[in-house]
Amino acid sequence: MKVTIFGSGYVGLVSGACLADVGNEVVCVDVDHNKVDMLRRGEVPIYEPGLEQIVRSNQEAGRLSFTTDVAAGVEHGLFQFIAVGTPPDEDGSADLQYVLSVADGIGECMNGYKIIVDKSTVPVGTADKVRARIDAALELRGQTAIEFDVVSNPEFLKEGDAIDDFMKPDRIIIGTDNPRTGELLRVLYAPFNRNHERVIAMDIRSAELTKYAANAMLATKISFMNELANIAERVGADIEQVRIGIGSDPRIGYDFIYPGIGYGGSCFPKDVQALERAARALGYHAQILEAVEQVNYRQKELLFHKIKSHFGGDLRGKVIALWGLAFKPNTDDMREAPSRVLMQALWDAGARVQAYDPEAMDEAARIYGSRGDLSLCRSPEAALRNADALAVATEWKVFRSPNFDAIAEALADPVIFDGRNLYDPKYLKARGFAYYAIGRNGG
Ligand SMILES: NC(=O)c1ccc[n+]([C@@H]2O[C@H](COP(=O)([O-])OP(=O)(O)OC[C@H]3O[C@@H](n4cnc5c(N)ncnc54)[C@H](O)[C@@H]3O)[C@@H](O)[C@H]2O)c1
Repeated sequence: MKVTIFGSGYVGLVSGACLADVGNEVVCVDVDHNKVDMLRRGEVPIYEPGLEQIVRSNQEAGRLSFTTDVAAGVEHGLFQFIAVGTPPDEDGSADLQYVLSVADGIGECMNGYKIIVDKSTVPVGTADKVRARIDAALELRGQTAIEFDVVSNPEFLKEGDAIDDFMKPDRIIIGTDNPRTGELLRVLYAPFNRNHERVIAMDIRSAELTKYAANAMLATKISFMNELANIAERVGADIEQVRIGIGSDPRIGYDFIYPGIGYGGSCFPKDVQALERAARALGYHAQILEAVEQVNYRQKELLFHKIKSHFGGDLRGKVIALWGLAFKPNTDDMREAPSRVLMQALWDAGARVQAYDPEAMDEAARIYGSRGDLSLCRSPEAALRNADALAVATEWKVFRSPNFDAIAEALADPVIFDGRNLYDPKYLKARGFAYYAIGRNGG
């Protein structure tokens, strides 16, 4: 089938590559000329395991192409996917300008029946806005006879596992008010729906809310555990034992209840905020969502407070080795990453940071440029050299079982601030480390 995808970021590129990989002809449209040029050369601008290979092989097979030409994109696909960003507006609600500008472009160029698929995470009611913008553009052109449908098909992929998530999704949500369109989308998704039925069809507004509900629930689990960790620390309990204790209850489960220094990334922070703001705009005070946000905000500052208090309140001239910059492992994405809050606080307090991340070094260089109080190091060991302490912000595999003798030797004093509870407090204390984790006995 012929598919056009607007937006070649994490969602658009993965969707385009995977849809091409099962035989569809996919054209990806992006406004970013540099990105499109890179992609045409077979270079993938983001780190996502397995993605580059799928992009290249499908480009070579002629099933996947990249363009900045909106008209060509609109002409190509029966399906017109919208997968552009929906960043927070000034007040935290979702900024729809990119989504609506794609809708304008489609309305200005459309010459026959199209199915417009909202894949971006958008507030309830966005499909109606997209429809209104296309209607208005068609009216201006005197082409009101051209028919189209708007469908909500939110994406649930996780960065780091994106290919697998797209190829073998837990669910495929299709929100539509036209059963015929729903059937066509079902055909498009059939290759990803062979093992068992994954399509869940519903009305458009419910589909739009489902995506926010899923992210808000996951963020709530994290903030809940972080709240519990902070209580555990104060009552002398170990949150890791509590986690295993409650996870054994199948109604709770072990997934997504890891305490740490807060959630980041391009989705949870903005989506929780956008849902809370949308509720507020309708006169409803969403107290749980507000608390989830506040707990997360505070949690991101926690490691800094532990570091500051260990050093007696004065961090001037201190050098902190930082392992992990990405907001989670297996991605180079640093959007809203807890590492950024920690680094900023350390810099404000007069400390220097020597950082290492397996994938996010280029991204860190892009964000921070060259500044005197940040060294981007080539290895975890290099980051430790002449540092006063080690802080861990991301649970990459490579950090899980380090050579503690080498760490002790490299640091001025053996002290570790572990924002992801990777290590065994007793083991480290027995080896002479001062060890600070999240919600563990002795804090
Ligand atoms: N990143 C994730 O893990 C994830 C997962 C599920 C859903 N989502 C949602 O999917 C949407 C996209 O997220 P992302 O992370 O892929 O964003 P992104 O920022 O990585 O990519 C967005 C792309 O859209 C392009 N763009 C902007 N305006 C455009 C236009 N008018 N025409 C064509 N291209 C345009 C940008 O240049 C950019 O390349 C968001 O709503 C997000 O919330 C993201």
